[in-house]
Amino acid sequence: MAAAMRSAVLNSTGVMGFLMLSCCAMMMMMMMMKGSDAQTTYTTFAESQYSNQFVIAWEPSNVWVVNDVLELAVTEASGTAVQSVNMYLFGYFRVGLKLVPNDSAGVLTAFYLSSGGNAHDEFDFEFLGNSSGQPYVLQTNIFAAGVGGREQRINLWFDPRADFHTYTVIWNPQSVSMYVDDVMIRVFQNHENEGQAYPNSQGVGVYSSSFEASSWVTQGGKVPIDYSQAPFVSSYSNYGIDSCVFEATSPTACSNPPAGTWWNAQEYQSVPSYRVTQLQWVKTNYMIYNYCTDTARYPTPPFECTAPLF
Ligand SMILES: *[C@@H]1O[C@H](CO)[C@@H](O)[C@H](O)[C@H]1NC(C)=O
Ligand SMILES: *[C@@H]1O[C@H](CO)[C@@H](O)[C@H](O)[C@H]1NC(C)=O
Repeated sequence: MAAAMRSAVLNSTGVMGFLMLSCCAMMMMMMMMKGSDAQTTYTTFAESQYSNQFVIAWEPSNVWVVNDVLELAVTEASGTAVQSVNMYLFGYFRVGLKLVPNDSAGVLTAFYLSSGGNAHDEFDFEFLGNSSGQPYVLQTNIFAAGVGGREQRINLWFDPRADFHTYTVIWNPQSVSMYVDDVMIRVFQNHENEGQAYPNSQGVGVYSSSFEASSWVTQGGKVPIDYSQAPFVSSYSNYGIDSCVFEATSPTACSNPPAGTWWNAQEYQSVPSYRVTQLQWVKTNYMIYNYCTDTARYPTPPFECTAPLF
């Protein structure tokens, strides 16, 4: 029973969902009724019971659900992408992701939030594939009002092909923070008062995508994709979104999250000291590229690179 319960709980927050946490109780009940026989195989994502939360943005034949895990495949014919039906402004966005096993050279797998448009706000987790046995690199980037160029790259402290790990964005009017499991890996704070754009007015969609990017992904483009190893399949589970649904017809409705909203709490508006320690740990031990220290690219470091954290 304990195992069944656990499985039900996992399923209830299971991807396919992009579940609003607020509707979990209902989902949980449905899942409990469904029990643990999650054997149904959907040939396309659209056939899954969760299709009301997602649409396939690109190439339905490369997306499927097996045992409540969403799989996105890159084949010689195409990459693929799914996106949330809703747009959101501020909140908590999480995915459990297991990367392409074995050879994934030339394959880019991304989980990201984007408003789209020229002046887009965007928060990216991009996983750079590699040859079999060679490590994945995680690249992150943050765009505000169309300005990005804030790439950071880290090695991970685990093999992201072996298991599901959780990748999270927490976003409120003061801060965008990104996490790998429970470790904060970066933060972008609001310096609008100092004249820097901050993402706080555009709704974003939530996307997962995977496609060939041989020209730059692996060792700077030296190792192209090897289609004899296709399909390249990444697996998604445990999506979670706790946010405000953004409606273009009332664009300010989400702008001021109620004080009681958990992701707007003080510990997510400013960086607590234990989080500073995490950021430092990542920077010291795992960071292999940081735009802040790329003086060839930015002779004067961008504002947020030298501003003290608050
Ligand atoms: C591919 O990866 C899986 C999981 O890590 C492993 O069990 C399997 O042996 C690998 N296959 C090859 C051909 O390397
Ligand atoms: C791929 O593996 C090589 C060799 O271990 C490593 O230098 C590189 O950083 C890895 N990642 C990418 C994205 O090239």
